[in-house]
Amino acid sequence: IKSEAIQSLILQTLSSEETISDSRQLALEGKSLSSTEDQNVIRGVLDSLSSKEMVEYKQITTTSYILTEEGKLIDEKGSHEIRVWQVLPVKGKGEPITVPELQKLVGPGIAKVGQSRAFKNKWIAKDGNGFVRSAEAPVDETAIQLREIREKGDHTSGESVTKELQKRKLIAPKKHIHYSISKGANFSTEVKQLETDLTVEMLQSGAWKDSSFKQYNFAAAGQPTDGGALHPLLKVREEFRNIFFEMGFTEMPTNRFVESAFWNFDAMFVPQQHPAREMQDTFYVKNPVKSLQPEPEYYERIRKVHEEGGYGSIGYRAPFSREESEKLLLRTHTTAISTAMLYELANQKGGFKPAKMYSIDRVFRNETADATHLAEFHQVEGVVADYNITLGNLIAFMQEFFGKTGNTKLRFKPAYNPYTEPSMEVFSWHEGLGKWIEIANSGIFRPEMLEPMGLPKGVRVLGWGMSLERPTMIKYKISDIRTLVGHKTDLDQVKKRAAVRLEKGDD
Ligand code: PHE
Repeated sequence: IKSEAIQSLILQTLSSEETISDSRQLALEGKSLSSTEDQNVIRGVLDSLSSKEMVEYKQITTTSYILTEEGKLIDEKGSHEIRVWQVLPVKGKGEPITVPELQKLVGPGIAKVGQSRAFKNKWIAKDGNGFVRSAEAPVDETAIQLREIREKGDHTSGESVTKELQKRKLIAPKKHIHYSISKGANFSTEVKQLETDLTVEMLQSGAWKDSSFKQYNFAAAGQPTDGGALHPLLKVREEFRNIFFEMGFTEMPTNRFVESAFWNFDAMFVPQQHPAREMQDTFYVKNPVKSLQPEPEYYERIRKVHEEGGYGSIGYRAPFSREESEKLLLRTHTTAISTAMLYELANQKGGFKPAKMYSIDRVFRNETADATHLAEFHQVEGVVADYNITLGNLIAFMQEFFGKTGNTKLRFKPAYNPYTEPSMEVFSWHEGLGKWIEIANSGIFRPEMLEPMGLPKGVRVLGWGMSLERPTMIKYKISDIRTLVGHKTDLDQVKKRAAVRLEKGDD
């Protein structure tokens, strides 16, 4: 309502006076509109009127000055130098005042500054151990200037004085904005409602001919857009991926979720009677009913090492069934891919060459979901194949790898995997939780797995694996995995969570 009144005030004033040179001179019902708030309202009205080209306006910025707390004190009681002069005796008409006495009389701060300025002004002089007056009636310029500024917001003593007073922190500038206003091309005292859109109806009726249209506002802020966001698992995956690249590893092609039991278990020397193979633990695929056949000679070597042994092993001495081998399943670990890659490495053109390979991808286990388990998750896995490498190399690789993730204090505990010997669980000291936590599983792949592939005898292969979800949950302090993946995922959190740097540790 106020802005409507101001709008008609501006239009009426322009109509009778042509221009308004200073918007602070406008007054509504006898009340001045010079305050900052009123000038802001005027600005809004001017923007609206000028978008219709009814008025033109210019912004004028001026500066006035206000007294600081110290400035106010001087305005009230006089400058430090005059206060020093005031307490001193006229020469010969009293005991000269010593520095300690002066400090008692006016306070140490005022005594120090006031004495030095009064000296410079030649208002006071030394007399024996003390000071006496040397001017009769000094003029306290500073106090006079400050009074003028208090009363008028400015003074007439020139710019150098302004600078000096500002430097002494006695005054502070204050900016003021006002406007000069004149008539625009479409000036009228009536404000026409402007059309924002050209409609079909206006075209059909011909009303468009008499309509005025609102101008485009190219400076308007657009609608906020909703951008995509990387899922926390993808951010942590990127960190692991970069560490592997730094260490010279290449990525394995993990783009197949459905795997044969042959690659997922048999080729890795996992016995066909192993509990992990049961339906409660593994998702089997009904259709197609069986996998393609592996290379017959390789299959035969695998069958033999399971049933009868070989390569220094006595095997499992249990029946090995082709039907079991040809079952299709959702891979339970990415080590199935590592195994297929090692087989390729052994049988590639030109023969075996040392390799460092990694993968980070999804695996599936037939588990009931709870706060820390899902039926699908991701594995991070590194595999190194070379001549004559040892358990010491495996430990060194893991120390470098996990060191780059901020896990510098590691412990290794003997463990069991059907496909590695020796096997080790890896523990890391978690500073934040104050305890050792298991972070990975590792080992040296068995000859029963490597030799049937045709890898040269001196070649050893080491590897380590872990989940991607666990470090992600630790990093982002997520206690329930179901809020990270699946239909209960908190999308808002996905958007808000910042990137992480693994090398900064876990706490
Ligand atoms: N496949 C193992 C797991 O699922 C990890 C692992 C990889 C262990 C390589 C040893 C060597 O936990």
